[in-house]
Parts: sequence; structure tokens; C-alpha cells
Amino acid sequence: MISTDIQFADVAQAVEEGFSKQPKRLPSWLFYDETGDKIFQEIMRMPEYYLTACEHEILQMQKDKLLKYFFQSGTQFNLVELGAGDGFKTEVLLKHFLKERTDFEYSPVDVSSNVLAQLSERLILTLPELVVKPINKNYFEAIDEMNDDEIRKVFLFLGANIGNMIASEASHFTRKIGKAMKRGDLLMIGFDLKKDPRLIQAAYDDAHGITRSFNLNLLVRLNRELGAQFLLDQFSHYPFYNPESGLASSYLISKLDQNVYFEACDKYVHFDRWEMIHTEVSQKYDLEMIESLADASGLTVVEVFYDCKHYFCDVLMRR
Ligand code: AVJ
Repeated sequence: MISTDIQFADVAQAVEEGFSKQPKRLPSWLFYDETGDKIFQEIMRMPEYYLTACEHEILQMQKDKLLKYFFQSGTQFNLVELGAGDGFKTEVLLKHFLKERTDFEYSPVDVSSNVLAQLSERLILTLPELVVKPINKNYFEAIDEMNDDEIRKVFLFLGANIGNMIASEASHFTRKIGKAMKRGDLLMIGFDLKKDPRLIQAAYDDAHGITRSFNLNLLVRLNRELGAQFLLDQFSHYPFYNPESGLASSYLISKLDQNVYFEACDKYVHFDRWEMIHTEVSQKYDLEMIESLADASGLTVVEVFYDCKHYFCDVLMRR
């Protein structure tokens, strides 16, 4: 496996850049260290975090229809999953495709080598016949690398991962994939939809504090990796959903005026009382936004698949 693991220097640079902005911010890829991966798996099992169950339902209900789309020409294809994570939902598809003797290989792409290794190990046990070619790179590098091989591609970008990008980043990203796609290639993206704002708010502010610990784990990571001296009880988890724009944002807010020492660079970072660190966006979509995203990327919507409550959708697109 080709590895481009995240290094000390990447983390240090992300913090340096993020903290020089106004408001201070941290990039959301920082969430996913070993502890963050585990907490996110817990989040996906929470009843408040409806996204996972909804998408699972969609894949379960549509697996046969999806197989027909993906394997249309009966020629071999590479199922490229961007940001595969633990791949639990995708396993529904993988299992079905194997059962139907589909000729395909599976390339999960993830920046976390830890998550990829776990996924590959599990798939060897649960689906030993599956050909798995993990790619430990960021999405852009992975897409570039695949440009020159001839095999037909079906790209998956599930789990509302696209929500972590603001609108301009999302369209930059889909345009990039669109350009890399050839005739016959497909792309399916999972979008979380606008809905009762209270439901969305609760998904990012669960009563058990699991999402809170996910957010605060950023500071734990900086303490460990950069020798920072954040005290966790001096920061508060604050998720906020704006139903007008569909943007859910998460913050860590300093409860007091403080200087936090960073051993790695022998520096103090100042936080005013109630100053916030912006840690995540989770954009919610409506159909109009999805259509215009597709348009801007030179992509055509083939079909939109919903769960029974219409909370979530997986959208199949072609070039
Ligand atoms: C993995 C980006 C889809 O934004 O809903 C869950 C991450 N953050 N709870 C999301 C997350 C807080 C999640 N995505």
C-alpha cells in the first residue's frame, strides 16, 4: 500500500495557518486520529445521528438497481470509494455484487492509514473473494493517479462527507472528479438534506456528549502531538445549524481569557473569553443545490435515491 501518512509537520502547519485566521479555525481532517476514528464510529451508532441509518437503508433497498447501473455494460469496473472510513455501509453493496458474480475490484481511498488497514483486514475475513486495492492518499492525489489506467470507474463519495466542504470547495471537488471521468464512468454522492432544524441540531449535539468528545478530541490531539497545554474544561462544544443557508457549523469556545502554551514551537496562543475556534462545517442540501452542483461540474443526474423519510439521498451522476 502506498502511504502518505499525516506527519507532525502537517499538523503543525494546519494549526499555525488555522489559528492565524479570524475566527480561528482547525481543519476537520484533524478529527480523525485513532481516538477520533473510534468516536466517529460511536457517533454513527447514535440514534440522533440519523444519517448513517438513512444511507444504510438506501443502499440496502437499491443494491440491485445500483448493480444494474454500475455493471450496465457487463464490463469489469473499479469501485473507487473516496473517504471510505470503516466501510460498513458499503459492505452492503460489496456483498451483493459478489453474490451476483460481478466482475469488479474495490479501491477504498482514505487519508487515515489506520482506518484503511482496519477495513482491509475486516474485508479479508468477511469477503475473502473481494479484490481490494486500498489507496492511502488524499482524494485529489488518488484521482490524479487513476487517470491513466483504462478500467471503467464507479466513484462513491458517501456518508455526506461532501458536507464537510463549503460550497466552493464542493464544486471544485466535483469538477475535478468530473474531469477525471470518462464515458461510462459513474459517480454517486451521499447528501444530507435540509429538514427540521431541531433534528439536525440534535445530530451534532447529542445528550450523551459523544459529539462533544469528538470535537474536544481535537485539543487532546494537539496536546499530544504538539505538546499543547489545552485544558478541556475551559472549552465548550458549540454546534450551530443555520436553516437558511443549510450550514451546520461546530465550534470550540474558550470559556475564559487564556494563553495556551505549545511546547513544539515554544509559543503561547491567546484566546479571549468566548472566542471561538471553528472546527467543522456540515452543509445540508436541497435538490436545487444538488442539481446546480452537478451542472457546474459538467455532470448529469441519473437518479436520486431517498430513504423513506427523505432525510438523506444518494445521487447517481454521469459525465
Ligand atoms: C463524516 C463529515 C459526514 O459532518 O456529519 C459527525 C462528521 N461531525 N458528527 C458530518 C461529524 C460531527 C460527519 N461527516
